[in-house]
Amino acid sequence: MPYTSREWRLAARPTGEPQPSDFALATVTVPDPEEGQVVVRNDFVSVDPYMRGRMNDVPSYVPPFQLDEPMTGSAVGTVVASGAADVPVGTTVTHFLGWREYALLPAEAVRAVDTALAPAEAYLGVLGSTGLTAYVGLTEIAPVKVGDTVFVSGAAGAVGSVAGQIARQLGAARVVGSAGGPEKVRRVIETYGFDAAFDYRQGDLPARLAGTAPDGVDVYFDNVGGDHLEAAIGAMNDFGRIALCGAISAYNATEPPPGPRNLPLAVGKRLSLRGMIVTDHLALAPEFAVRAAEWLKDGSLVAEETVVEGIDNAVEAFLAMMRGANTGKMLVRLVHD
Ligand SMILES: NC(=O)c1ccc[n+]([C@@H]2O[C@H](COP(=O)([O-])OP(=O)(O)OC[C@H]3O[C@@H](n4cnc5c(N)ncnc54)[C@H](OP(=O)(O)O)[C@@H]3O)[C@@H](O)[C@H]2O)c1
Repeated sequence: MPYTSREWRLAARPTGEPQPSDFALATVTVPDPEEGQVVVRNDFVSVDPYMRGRMNDVPSYVPPFQLDEPMTGSAVGTVVASGAADVPVGTTVTHFLGWREYALLPAEAVRAVDTALAPAEAYLGVLGSTGLTAYVGLTEIAPVKVGDTVFVSGAAGAVGSVAGQIARQLGAARVVGSAGGPEKVRRVIETYGFDAAFDYRQGDLPARLAGTAPDGVDVYFDNVGGDHLEAAIGAMNDFGRIALCGAISAYNATEPPPGPRNLPLAVGKRLSLRGMIVTDHLALAPEFAVRAAEWLKDGSLVAEETVVEGIDNAVEAFLAMMRGANTGKMLVRLVHD
């Protein structure tokens, strides 16, 4: 039977911080699947920082959202109608038609996940591209060596919290992080096992970073950009490696942000700064899946989620995540009648 589904559309391109009025919730009918198609009831949808870039009409590694079209993103759900024998009703799958309650997809566009290993929503976080991003950054882009000091910004967030723990598994001697507010700093140390962390909102990043990493930084995992990147460049040891994973401090900027003023230091320190997009490194996914499963099982990797209920609240969840309301991965759980 056809399903009535609510879906979020981009109603206007935001300037600066997005406003609720930039989005509209529409109701549509999702038809029955044809041969080779499935209908998925989304149980969790992901809200992610990169989606802010897709709200601008600029070319990027992932195309912009189109006005008045449903937005897309990662989701996990249950197949409720199937025209594909290899993806029967009841299969738990991930796919890319998030921001809606029900999705009609070609069967080859969904991937079945193992819910015996971890709950379905973990495949939007630690066992999905979030965890893989952290792993790629610290193995391929800015490889951690045994004995290193590793600094992670955005350390209480989805990628950052996993990155700090993976750095430890890869042999880092000291793992330090930054996060917004004292509660997050406490969480970064007590739950995610960082050796030290600081609240960047207190200002004077160079001094706070020097206080947590007095012998300098060998690897910096950058989720934030801006003044965090500048402080890290100042603190890097010779031959240090920086993974440029994200620059969330600039995602709502209306003017191009200033570059790190101390970039020339990268010459004398012989630093490597390398950008990354996780989807270029999917070949590492099977290796990561095996290692992450072991770490989760033996308790050396702890993953958390902040869950907001209901499709009605998905935009607010996105806006709140951009403002720092989440610890770990921000997810929206969809409630179905
Ligand atoms: N390159 C890739 O392939 C790839 C893949 C996934 C994610 N990323 C990037 O990784 C970063 C983290 O993503 P995520 O999904 O894990 O999100 P997240 O860290 O779970 O959530 C975003 C966090 O950013 C922090 N934040 C917001 N504004 C900030 C500012 N001005 N300065 C410092 N921190 C700020 C907030 O935490 P506080 O309370 O601590 O401020 C917020 O909780 C983002 O930059 C994202 O674009 C890159």
